[in-house]
Amino acid sequence: MRLSRYFMPTLREAPADAQIVSHKLMLRAGMIRQEAAGIYAWLPLGLRVLKKIEQVVREEMDRAGAIEVLLPTLQLADLWRESGRYDDYGDEMLRIKDRHHRDLLYGPTAEEVITDIFRAYIKSYKDLPKNLYNIQWKFRDERRPRFGVMRGREFLMKDAYSFDVDEAAARRSYNRMFLAYLNIYARLGLKAIPVKADPGPIGGELSHEFIILADTGESEVFAHGDLVEMGAPGQDIDWDGDLEPLVAQRSCLYAASDEMHDPSRFEAEVPPEKRMTARGIEVGHIFYFGEKYSKPMKAMVTGPDGKDAPIHGGSYGVGVSRLVGGIIEASHDDAGIIWPDAVAPFGVAVVNLRPGSTDVDAVAEQAYKALGELGKEPLLDDRDERPGAKFASLDLVGIPWQLIVGPKGVAEGMVEIKRRATGERQTLSLEAALKVIAA
Ligand SMILES: Nc1ncnc2c1ncn2[C@@H]1O[C@H](COP(=O)(O)OP(=O)(O)O)[C@@H](O)[C@H]1O
Ligand SMILES: [Mg+2]
Repeated sequence: MRLSRYFMPTLREAPADAQIVSHKLMLRAGMIRQEAAGIYAWLPLGLRVLKKIEQVVREEMDRAGAIEVLLPTLQLADLWRESGRYDDYGDEMLRIKDRHHRDLLYGPTAEEVITDIFRAYIKSYKDLPKNLYNIQWKFRDERRPRFGVMRGREFLMKDAYSFDVDEAAARRSYNRMFLAYLNIYARLGLKAIPVKADPGPIGGELSHEFIILADTGESEVFAHGDLVEMGAPGQDIDWDGDLEPLVAQRSCLYAASDEMHDPSRFEAEVPPEKRMTARGIEVGHIFYFGEKYSKPMKAMVTGPDGKDAPIHGGSYGVGVSRLVGGIIEASHDDAGIIWPDAVAPFGVAVVNLRPGSTDVDAVAEQAYKALGELGKEPLLDDRDERPGAKFASLDLVGIPWQLIVGPKGVAEGMVEIKRRATGERQTLSLEAALKVIAA
């Protein structure tokens, strides 16, 4: 991409109503624009990051055996009347009527829709387990939308739904998601802590929230330090094997968010030097809810005994658009965003310090072409701007590498590379610079 032809409307100052750093930086970097409270247009740079995160989530869901579908944003109220949630959901649900006066709603989640699909096609335990997921916009008419994409009204969520023949099988499905989630956040460069969450009216132990630490987070977490330090399980685990030990290794360590926190247990189970209290951002939430939807909606399968019984369900959400803000909260400095390589909108900015100078243009074009061929998604800064302005905007938007081409270097056969995260610079031949960036 050539910056002279791109659309990256960076701002010098953040609008006054942006309170937290990620919201400020997303506006300043020209990633999003607010259209209404909690409703955003995604501008080109923001969209590239959103798509990258979405793709990481997709790959890890696929790896764990889930299957992607795309559900509609508009849903029939009648389905929600079947589950009994139409009235319960309250003011957060955006209710709509079509021209035939049928009640529709903009989906805040999709348990009913997916249960309806399941019951239409799947009748036997032999077709289980199944886990279907959806990466789609949701709408919740939040009372206080705030912090930009962190608490929006319209937001992108990955929601997965598992279907199993009994509780033991459902637990295996839950464990897969528990570990897949840890891998997702690790690939995004984040340290996420699974904390026990309120499982709601169903009871039981099976609900976890995944929290990344950030001072601006809305949740307070209490956790055993060893859990915070423990890495993700990695992609090579046997997804069809017994995952319980890997899950238990983590869930046996104390971790709770405010509403589930038990100070006396915290003190009894965690030695003082390991007690960690921090603020964090909820970036995922998984539930096992048993027959909550399958019973009223009659999603039944015939079991090995020939009898029909409601399936055991779970649902698993990742806040994809919230993660854009979450990653920035975790990774920025005074100059702007520092994207982890995995989600950076472009891999390298090629900075032409003297556009119009034949020699400099030639080297910049050569670097741009070579980086494209290496799959590094280069952005060529060919704007007619002062070097200082170029560096400031490229630092702001957080591209992991800058490859700087100027007249002095070109005369000596050299370019400069800068790593955004560390500020470290090296002067090298173009060939050597490409090798460093490719590594
Ligand atoms: N208003 C919102 N804006 C952005 N992301 C959200 C919002 N509400 C929920 N999410 C994300 O979607 C994930 C799944 O949502 P869920 O747990 O069902 O919602 P809740 O946290 O309201 O119970 C959350 O972990 C969070 O990351
Ligand atoms: Mg939640």
